[in-house]
Amino acid sequence: MQAEIVVLPGDGIGPEVTRAALRVLRAVGERYGHRFTTHEHLIGGAAIDATGEPLPAATLDACRKADAVLLGAVGGPQWSDPQAKVRPEQGLLAIRKALGLYANLRPVKPHPAALGASPIKPHLLNGVDLLVVRELTGGIYFGDKTRGDGIASDLCTYTVAEIERVVRRACQLARQRRGHVTSVDKANVLETSRLWRETATRIARDEFPDVTLEHQLVDSMAMHLLAKPREYDVIVTENMFGDILTDEASMLAGSLGLLPSASLGEGQIGIYEPIHGSAPDIAGRGIANPYATILSVAMLLRHSLGLEDEAKCVELAVSRALDDGQFTGDLAAGRPAIGTDAAATAVIRQLQVECHAVE
Ligand code: NAD
Ligand code: IPM
Ligand code: MN
Repeated sequence: MQAEIVVLPGDGIGPEVTRAALRVLRAVGERYGHRFTTHEHLIGGAAIDATGEPLPAATLDACRKADAVLLGAVGGPQWSDPQAKVRPEQGLLAIRKALGLYANLRPVKPHPAALGASPIKPHLLNGVDLLVVRELTGGIYFGDKTRGDGIASDLCTYTVAEIERVVRRACQLARQRRGHVTSVDKANVLETSRLWRETATRIARDEFPDVTLEHQLVDSMAMHLLAKPREYDVIVTENMFGDILTDEASMLAGSLGLLPSASLGEGQIGIYEPIHGSAPDIAGRGIANPYATILSVAMLLRHSLGLEDEAKCVELAVSRALDDGQFTGDLAAGRPAIGTDAAATAVIRQLQVECHAVE
């Protein structure tokens, strides 16, 4: 097949991890006889420096025409002045919104070889396989923001339609898994959460009688996620709760550098990115973990290009690289560590051994 992929490296370690992941994508193309054409565009701080805007019109146009978008990360201390008029993160929020990507899929499946990097006891981690579906284009992130003299506010709003579509997506995904959805809210305090709970209950009852739905308050969810992570299948939640819970969930896998994501809407186009940020503390040193971005490439192959075999093959290759002890510093826990490019090379080597393309 032929596919056009827009690449948005962004800031900090973004360019390092996307470069590594693109090497893997190219290897998949060669192995399976696909032509993946990639075009790089600006977003975030790099775009502000070059054009004054975090999401230049040329970038958005290119994304609209592409089959899929691979993104690194945006942000960094040089653009974080509280008084700044424009911020890198605005570019990311704007592109998610503009492309209508309301469902952010963040799978968490700890790998046995990486358990040593997790602060959680290994017996709690065996068999963990959960998927967080984070609402991505609503809630407090997108409500009116005001700043007055000695006062500030961020409005949190959800419509029934926004809740319905993301809960529906979560239930559909649960059907392909273990058929269980946990909806997370703060319905004991927030009106948006009460609407969320009411809507989730109705959608599950009327449209997904084969799926079981339970509700959990977000504060106790943060605790249960570490105490009994194996019990969760699909977790669906609003934008900010999903953001926070997934960084927490990354510790089940051992590192933020292991969790990929797919941001999807109704169409075929999606944005694929690691859940981590630009990691300014390690940027420019060639030591960032590229596995989350490589696993995001697998999600791109699956969800935007319909290439399930190729997606599985990338996931298997990452898994084999970890089995083989190919750890970046964040995973090493006292063992020898390799750099970003060496990790990509390890995955490509495993691809060549494990993945048998149809000639
Ligand atoms: P971060 O995710 O960038 O980093 C948190 C910690 O995890 C750091 O110690 C970092 O070194 C480590 N880490 C993250 N990714 C890693 C990887 N691939 N390999 C090894 N270690 C890794 O979060 P932060 O420090 O809170 O934020 C830094 C900047 O990133 C901020 O400007 C923030 O807005 C931005 N950010 C962007 C995105 C995105 O673009 N999707 C996501 C989160 C944060
Ligand atoms: C993420 C990030 C973003 C978010 C920021 C950078 C806007 O933390 O993708 O998880 O909060 O959605
Ligand atoms: Mn985040």
